[in-house]
Amino acid sequence: MSESIHQAVRENYGRLAEAGGACCGSDSACTSPQLYDEAQWASLPKEAAELSLGCGDPVTIAGLRPGEHVLDLGSGGGIDCFLAAEQVGPAGHVIGVDMTPAMLERARATRDRLGLTQVEFRQGQLEALPVADETIDVILSNCVISLVPDKGAAFREAFRVLKVGGRISVSDIVTGGEFSAELRADLNRWTECVSGAVPLTDYLAGLSRAGFVEITVVSQVDASDIVPVQEGMPPLFSVRIRARKQNKN
Ligand SMILES: C[S@@+](CC[C@H](N)C(=O)[O-])C[C@H]1O[C@@H](n2cnc3c(N)ncnc32)[C@H](O)[C@@H]1O
Repeated sequence: MSESIHQAVRENYGRLAEAGGACCGSDSACTSPQLYDEAQWASLPKEAAELSLGCGDPVTIAGLRPGEHVLDLGSGGGIDCFLAAEQVGPAGHVIGVDMTPAMLERARATRDRLGLTQVEFRQGQLEALPVADETIDVILSNCVISLVPDKGAAFREAFRVLKVGGRISVSDIVTGGEFSAELRADLNRWTECVSGAVPLTDYLAGLSRAGFVEITVVSQVDASDIVPVQEGMPPLFSVRIRARKQNKN
């Protein structure tokens, strides 16, 4: 199942990258400026804003500081990497990881046009990050872990690459209940950030099992205007969560 999910996700986001983007699925409307505040949105390069496929703003709640090293999990067209680059400045470093080649191509083209030498994009999967241990101050992720079949592996990898005391800031889709087995197996719904979503309690437990502490749900809003919902689905929410890798005693 994992490989067929990866393949379906890669195909969907490859198509969106080539077409210019229309959110998590063909009939949903995830691309919306109201995910970010007006000043942030106005500061974005047009080609990154056009390929905004997230479900919230994980950057603002991350409290980035100049010089910090940032990793964006599932960076897509690079929108959150470009926002982060502005905040960490030329002394900082931003890595975007994504498994879809066409997304990486788009993100790198924008980065090159902007001349952002502190931003790089690497091909890889969240379940096996191409990033060294304990090298990252802040992890961002926007509407991606809900797409990952092995969420436990993604949380463990995030924990591995963070420095002690480092923090994670995610925006994602979660549920208020379980999907039927039939919906869970629907790959189209999965690629739309829907049927791969898990209950909020499971998501928080996954972070905790990986070792994260100070896990905080910063916001939780109904997601029915962000992802496509249909009858028989559990309630869907867009949440923003922050957590930390505890300092060693
Ligand atoms: C909904 S889009 C979000 C993109 C970006 N974060 C944004 O806010 O615009 C999901 C992205 O995650 C990537 N992705 C999904 N599953 C992944 C995985 N297991 N490993 C790496 N990238 C993944 C997809 O290729 C796609 O670019």
